[in-house]
Amino acid sequence: MIMRKFPVVLFLFSIPLVAFSLRALSPTNPCHSKPNPKTLRSDQFTVLINGYSESRFHLLRSIAAKYSSCPSVAAVFILWSNPTTPTETLTQLTINITSYYFVSAPISILRQSSDSLNSRFFPRPSWITTRAVAICDDDVEIDTKSVEFAFKIWSSHQDNLVGFFARSHDFDLSRRTWIYTVHPDKYSIVLTKFMILKTDYLYMYSCGSNMDEMRKVVDRMRNCEDILMNFVVANATNSGPILIGAEKVRDWGDARNEGRGSTEKEEKLVTEVGLSSRKGDHRKRRGECIREFHRIWEKMPLIYSNGKVVNSVGEQGLCEKGGKLVFCDEQLLL
Ligand SMILES: *[C@@H]1O[C@H](CO)[C@@H](O)[C@H](O)[C@H]1NC(C)=O
Ligand SMILES: *[C@@H]1O[C@H](CO)[C@@H](O)[C@H](O)[C@H]1NC(C)=O
Repeated sequence: MIMRKFPVVLFLFSIPLVAFSLRALSPTNPCHSKPNPKTLRSDQFTVLINGYSESRFHLLRSIAAKYSSCPSVAAVFILWSNPTTPTETLTQLTINITSYYFVSAPISILRQSSDSLNSRFFPRPSWITTRAVAICDDDVEIDTKSVEFAFKIWSSHQDNLVGFFARSHDFDLSRRTWIYTVHPDKYSIVLTKFMILKTDYLYMYSCGSNMDEMRKVVDRMRNCEDILMNFVVANATNSGPILIGAEKVRDWGDARNEGRGSTEKEEKLVTEVGLSSRKGDHRKRRGECIREFHRIWEKMPLIYSNGKVVNSVGEQGLCEKGGKLVFCDEQLLL
């Protein structure tokens, strides 16, 4: 089914879009051109989707289109980090998305000059004109209403990381070491399956004076960029992330699937894949990252949050519980 909101406008629009959007990142250092946050618009946000595998094009098309149709999304960028994909293929992908789906915000593909996971958080002053960005995977589809809700929550908690998928760090007393885990009632890490954060934090992550060594850990492990961002934000704010309950999440899953998810459906999937040894390996590697970041940081900045914000009850209030501020309609993460 062909659905276009403004077919003519889109057609005119999509040609220059395709032409310029595949340009490689400018070599000038974006750390030197950090915009004043006040000049960035706060009524909408930018979506950055990571893409690498051509076998996921069918998912990517529908996920990019879905984000594009959210009223609060200003622009969608697909960060393409597979250097072997021909440019014509990516051009065709853009044309396909705008031809076969309902799109509203422009969708562009930015070819990445490296496959470093750190580039997910690369500041892009010439592309990002909003005060918030969402960092997403190419295999997780979240319903529009929940995405809008997440942005609304972020808007009233602009210093926090907001996401739909949570995990935890913990200290294993018997082994005397930091580990990556899941707790039933608290969390300290939100994943890049979907997270919303201040554009400002991209600069902190990529340009911060003490960040080089930690970004190297991400490159060495080919993993953990999301954990590092959680360290950066917790360190800057002295507070934990905010978990949102999504109404409908479709997670086609990859190595990051283990642990606790956002919906019953995902959890079922998660439980099944959670048994494989690849998952155990993934968890171990993530534990190793936490230990490395902790060693370099010389402290543990991660902070636990409780409760999950859900949309069904409307406006959320904060209540005190056990000496902590929590959302009044808090649900345990059972
Ligand atoms: C674009 O759509 C055509 C027709 O459905 C399909 O054959 C092709 O594989 C698609 N290409 C990309 C890159 O999405
Ligand atoms: C952590 O926060 C402190 C205090 O705000 C700051 O001085 C320091 O640079 C931060 N560390 C990193 C690695 O961002």
